[in-house]
Amino acid sequence: MSNDAKVLFEVTEAHLNTGLRGFPVGTVRTSAVDPMKGVSYVGYPVADLAYLDPEAVVYLMFHKELPGTAQLAAFKADLGRRSLIDPRVLTLLGQLPKDGHPMEWLLAGLVYLGMTGKTGDWMEDALNLVARTPTLVANIFRLRSGWGEPLDSRPELGLVENMVHQMGMPGGDVAKLDELLRVFYVLHMDHGGGNLSTFAGKAVASGHADVYSSMAAAMAGLYGPLHGRANQECLNFVREVGSTDPDQIEKFVRDTLAAGGKIFGFGHAVLRSEDPRAAVQYDLGKKLCPEDPLFQTALAMRTVAVRVLQENAKISSPFPNVDAVSGTLLNASGLVESDYYTVLFGFSRIAGIAAQIYDERMVLRDGKGVPIYRCKYIAENQPSRHLA
Ligand code: MLT
Repeated sequence: MSNDAKVLFEVTEAHLNTGLRGFPVGTVRTSAVDPMKGVSYVGYPVADLAYLDPEAVVYLMFHKELPGTAQLAAFKADLGRRSLIDPRVLTLLGQLPKDGHPMEWLLAGLVYLGMTGKTGDWMEDALNLVARTPTLVANIFRLRSGWGEPLDSRPELGLVENMVHQMGMPGGDVAKLDELLRVFYVLHMDHGGGNLSTFAGKAVASGHADVYSSMAAAMAGLYGPLHGRANQECLNFVREVGSTDPDQIEKFVRDTLAAGGKIFGFGHAVLRSEDPRAAVQYDLGKKLCPEDPLFQTALAMRTVAVRVLQENAKISSPFPNVDAVSGTLLNASGLVESDYYTVLFGFSRIAGIAAQIYDERMVLRDGKGVPIYRCKYIAENQPSRHLA
């Protein structure tokens, strides 16, 4: 680093043990998070991309440009060719304990995919992984729920549609699930470089573990209830509210806060206004399930919870985040078991993380890549001692 390099951040002792909150540690090419405007992907506000073909947005993650019509068709065909997974993965998946959490199944599945299909080439493995997740994720639903044997993959349907098809949910409304999950997939694809799962995945990849193991590490990060598993908690919370009446909702919010509880779906580490990903989903809910009582509760929370949270000046982020209504929409579309919601978050986030891993390995620092992560911890309460 040159001596005249710009100072970005002054580190003081007060920053220690704060989970790296706000520390600039690198650069990211796929997305940016503005506290007021929310996330943009390679410059495009996420709301503008929400209804594009999911594969077009995956292409954007890797190529930093949206594809033209012919490029998109070629990219979809390429993903289709990559999508076949080793049948042993599904055999192994079928033997996992059913009481394991679906995210634990996802972690296991990613490791199995790596054992049976890695090439060692960062781009190849990243794209193969994106192409293979529909079959993996669908069968986490299907085999864990006991819905039957794996169904044939139909990659020509598209990443999301093929996942929904292979899930084969009994009584599932395929068209509705496709419509919701296409938007869900795009909205959850990336959120800057510093969120826990992305950071963990890139950190592990910096030691030159392969994409699959790095992604398993990333998904282990996403599994935590303070990160991706919050979407599961959110639906449970909306269910607990149990009313669409604004006065009762207000009382519930106040009682929860007074008891030291958390208002799930509200607040964010970075965002300081309503998350545009939440806004897109509220609008989609008005189209897909306007009469659904849980959706009506979530919609009323959008106003009531924000008003109550804003009364506390110490709460810097009282606004709905991406999880505020996603579970409600999944539930209204027939996916009623909230345990699975984080797997859908992971399904969507894998493309963004895989593209960021590729950039850190092969593009940044003029193609040299980022060295192995090695930060510094200051020793505490460790006076020098000697055995007698
Ligand atoms: C998100 O999508 O909001 C996250 O991954 C959480 C974060 O950005 O810290």
